[in-house]
Amino acid sequence: MAKKAVVSSSEAVCPSDPREDQTVQPTAQTAALNPLAEAANAALAKDSPVVLDLLSERGKRFFFPARGILAQGAEAKQKATTANATIGIATENGAPMHLASVNRYYSGLAPSEIYDYAPSYGRLDLRQAWQKKQQAETPSLAGHPTSLPVVTNALTQGLSLVGDLFLDPGDEALSSDLMWENYNLSWETRLGARISTYPFFDRKLTGFNITAFTQALAERKGRKLVVALNFPNNPSGYTPTKAEAGAIVNALIAAAQAGSKLVVVCDDAYYGMFYDPACETESLFGRLASAHENLLAVKVDGATKEEFVWGLRVGFLTFAIKNGTPAVYKALEDKTAGLVRATISNVSMPGQSIVLKALLDPAFRAQQAEKVAVLRRRAEITATECRRPEYTDCWDVYPFNSGYFMCLRIKGTAAETVRQELLAKHGVGAIALGQTELRIAFSCLTEAQIPAVFAAAATAVRAVRPA
Ligand SMILES: Cc1ncc(COP(=O)(O)O)c(C=O)c1O
Repeated sequence: MAKKAVVSSSEAVCPSDPREDQTVQPTAQTAALNPLAEAANAALAKDSPVVLDLLSERGKRFFFPARGILAQGAEAKQKATTANATIGIATENGAPMHLASVNRYYSGLAPSEIYDYAPSYGRLDLRQAWQKKQQAETPSLAGHPTSLPVVTNALTQGLSLVGDLFLDPGDEALSSDLMWENYNLSWETRLGARISTYPFFDRKLTGFNITAFTQALAERKGRKLVVALNFPNNPSGYTPTKAEAGAIVNALIAAAQAGSKLVVVCDDAYYGMFYDPACETESLFGRLASAHENLLAVKVDGATKEEFVWGLRVGFLTFAIKNGTPAVYKALEDKTAGLVRATISNVSMPGQSIVLKALLDPAFRAQQAEKVAVLRRRAEITATECRRPEYTDCWDVYPFNSGYFMCLRIKGTAAETVRQELLAKHGVGAIALGQTELRIAFSCLTEAQIPAVFAAAATAVRAVRPA
């Protein structure tokens, strides 16, 4: 059983919920866990004790307030045939009240699909449709049960919730050195966790550095560790080959067998944007889901990049572990939805409704494939242009085969100096990362722009590097 979390009395109860107030006895120093958190933790202790160990103190404390306002509202929805005075919205003519000046911007959605609150877990029909999509795209799940995806405010909130659930101050997360900078802000700055890195590519820049990854796991043998995997990778645009993907899975299984307790986060933000037949096109979540009792697999994915709806803010968090039971998944879903409830209450209804309708639209997949083909063509042109022999004095090219980006390793000067020169003298924007990495988002360049961007980058490097 988990040790009792220390919480302030104001955190322990929902004061507006008298039924929960009765069951919690706060003291001056500590407060008992809410009984719903106790029940969720007990379910984990019984069926998957490692998952309980992996939870942060906040993760152990969290629960979904299933006996509060939300439950009373749900009960009334079923039984209040005369009048329903439970919901916190205004209604008129049997639909959410709304203004014509707002409504004129929507077509094809009913008022209830726009203005109503969504559940904190997300719309059930959307969660089911997304799970069906995950299963179809991940044959290696092979029927292994997972949680139902919980809807998040896109992948950023999914990652942030992973931190809330599994990272205490001082806890370690392992990532490749090439990573999205928001991991630092969310897990280090916000939560006080530490991110350690291993080199993403091998020395010759031929592919994923499985030696460094395996060694990083071995150095942490027997410990609790959150491992972040992001393929296609931001910023490099690299997805492991099928052989590399197998080696990554095997290294994680070996670490779990050796006693490490792992939360493996598959950040699948750019899933589906694969441009090379050698890429592993399945999320590693599929194989990790049933890998080992010491390994909790967490899939962070969503519509943002995959479906080209960045501003709609619809993402998902899904859990799986070997021998995971419905009670384990319910506990994790409840804790996640409780955190959503406590922070943003629920995710935008119009975004969820639109993504659901799109997923169910027979034309959707073909339309998505068309856009991926546009990106593939840009990636191909980029691959040729950035490797022109006349640029070899200016940079090395990190391998790329997927996603939105590629990365140059600038020679002889700092990437930031090149970025500034590129912007000031050539009007070309790029992102400098670390000392030498310059990230180019070919996803937002036309085919015609690509050659000139690399020509300008080479001119900029030559202009600013010491003679
Ligand atoms: C690797 C990675 N993960 C997650 C995200 C977050 O995406 P979202 O816009 O869905 O929050 C991004 C966005 O740039 C990303 O690059």
